[in-house]
Amino acid sequence: MKLNIACLPGDGIGPEIMNSAVQVLKQIAQTYQHDFTFSTNLFGGHAIDETGNALPDDTLNNCLNADAVLLAAVGGPKWDQGAERPESGLLRLRKSLNLYANIRPVDVYDELVNYSPLKAEQVRNVSFVVVRELTGGIYFSEPRFHNENEATDTLSYTRDEIERIVTYGFELAKSRKGKLTSVDKANVLESSKLWRKIVNQLSVNYPEVEVEHLLVDAAAMELIRNPRRFDVIVTENLFGDILSDEASMITGSLGMLPSASRSGNGPSLYEPIHGSAPDIAGQNKANPIAMLRSVAMMLRNFKLVDEANAIENAIVKSFHNGYLTSDLGGKSTTTQFTEQVVNQLKFQAVGGANR
Ligand code: IPM
Ligand code: MG
Repeated sequence: MKLNIACLPGDGIGPEIMNSAVQVLKQIAQTYQHDFTFSTNLFGGHAIDETGNALPDDTLNNCLNADAVLLAAVGGPKWDQGAERPESGLLRLRKSLNLYANIRPVDVYDELVNYSPLKAEQVRNVSFVVVRELTGGIYFSEPRFHNENEATDTLSYTRDEIERIVTYGFELAKSRKGKLTSVDKANVLESSKLWRKIVNQLSVNYPEVEVEHLLVDAAAMELIRNPRRFDVIVTENLFGDILSDEASMITGSLGMLPSASRSGNGPSLYEPIHGSAPDIAGQNKANPIAMLRSVAMMLRNFKLVDEANAIENAIVKSFHNGYLTSDLGGKSTTTQFTEQVVNQLKFQAVGGANR
């Protein structure tokens, strides 16, 4: 398959983990005879330094014309006080690509149950997906402003916006264990009252899916108390942001969780859920797993299932061989972990040829 991939390494540890992603994809291309081309694009704080704009026009155009976009991470203390922040580039990118559905799978590796801050017996076999609305809600609604004495954010949703994300959640639940947990704050927020009404209306079309409503505070508690109860969680933008960071810790590290952001009409974008970790940037310490699993999600969405499985298997084999980065208490550098994954892919390819 021919794929034109726009790479946005961004800031902090971004370039290091993007490098891992590209190495792994080059190996996949070689083993499975694909033609992947990569373009590297300015984005985030680096783009502000060079152009004054976190999302330069060239970058946006390359993304719009790509088959898929790979993004590592943006942001850092250097750009915290400026008029233009790296994060605003990310939000403009999400909006411009119409990336309304952000899919964040939370899977606990058997090999890592003892690395979770929760008890092993509580997290074993945890597997659920957070479906986060990504182009609406309080991140985007107007009016928004602040002055010295007052600040306003607005949380608004239309029926169309809610229907399309909740439908995505129902479809995903139907293809998994058949349970959808809709998270809102319907005891307080008007937007949540409409959200809940729409979930109930759509549920009529999905008799095979069991629906439950949870208030966001209760959902935060249940994620710790009994994470195995979840299959698909669907929620609005800000709740999804917060709950997915919480959920990542169940797996042992924020460095584990990938994501795919699906577009209504154009290329999808794949990025780890974690940030740019400026404290460890440039030290070859970053855990590349969230980035590599985002690559696997990309391949899966192009129906390259064997290729996606090969990456997932290579990650697990690397654990078996004792490779873990420092966020999981291990000693491997980003480069060592990546080399190990690439070696495992080569090894699997040879094994495949011998069978
Ligand atoms: C995420 C991040 C972003 C968000 C930030 C960097 C703007 O936390 O992707 O979860 O809040 O969406
Ligand atoms: Mg976040």
